[in-house]
Amino acid sequence: MTFAPRIDAALTRALEGAQAQPAPAQLASALRYATFPGGARIRPTILMSVASACGDDHPEITDAAATALELIHCASLVHDDLPCFDDADLRRGKPSVHVAYSQPLAVLTGDSLIILAFEVLGRSAATDRGRAAELILSLAQRTGMPRGICAGQGWESEPQIDLVAYHRSKTAALFIAATEMGAIAAGHDPEAWHDLGALIGEAFQVADDLRDELMDSDTLGKPAGQDGLNGRPNAVAEWGVEGAVARLSDILAGAIASIPSCPGEAMLAKAVRAQAQAIMPDVPARYSV
Ligand code: IPE
Ligand code: IPE
Ligand code: MG
Ligand code: MG
Repeated sequence: MTFAPRIDAALTRALEGAQAQPAPAQLASALRYATFPGGARIRPTILMSVASACGDDHPEITDAAATALELIHCASLVHDDLPCFDDADLRRGKPSVHVAYSQPLAVLTGDSLIILAFEVLGRSAATDRGRAAELILSLAQRTGMPRGICAGQGWESEPQIDLVAYHRSKTAALFIAATEMGAIAAGHDPEAWHDLGALIGEAFQVADDLRDELMDSDTLGKPAGQDGLNGRPNAVAEWGVEGAVARLSDILAGAIASIPSCPGEAMLAKAVRAQAQAIMPDVPARYSV
């Protein structure tokens, strides 16, 4: 099942609210530029897959949760590309926000998208106050310090990087948010869903490191070879291409095995397998995998 139209419709509604007149025109335009067209939308897709497997009894809360999560992700990319972070001028195949607009507008775009994410969740309290509060807490924990993406980015300023903590907070945090928030949106206990998110997140980071090594900028739609260039610890430097591919397969098998029992368990296993196939990069024949 593809959730793409549902995700994009929910994101569009949220953005229209943030662009209501009177609004500074360039900032309003940059909000949409940073969000559309999307990338793979993998985090909200996982969130909606988990919510569906749990019954999705309040689809409007699931929409809000998926929107909020993707808004945080898009904001993190805008800030990540800034000259003071990765200084990357290409994102999703087009100029990064600070190149297309300006640095001040890129900072404000990221800030506005982060705030909008929590506004969207706040509004979902009209449907269910308890679930809205849980969603806000979960997303805040996976975005900020000490376990969220702020922590992940913060590790890059340390003289010694703890690789496990770095990857867990930089990348896995938003995948843990995806599975936990999907469960919360459908009224299920999020704790049982933590490990699935953590494992998909770990696999995703290994796949991203492989893509960074094996693919060119045109295909990636963002600068390639960044890990080596920025001296960042990564799966390929750690285990080589073959080792990283083997690890990726192991982690994905573990992810599927960790799916908690729920009404849509079989459907969800199929969805995770499909996502796994989508993130697995083509490995050239010179590597023996
Ligand atoms: C890029 O994430 C950032 C990380 C690797 C952590 P995605 O590859 O999911 O980006 P989009 O949303 O598809 O562009
Ligand atoms: C981006 O990580 C992660 C966050 C913004 C939290 P990277 O810098 O490794 O990802 P890309 O290569 O720019 O997408
Ligand atoms: Mg970065
Ligand atoms: Mg980057």
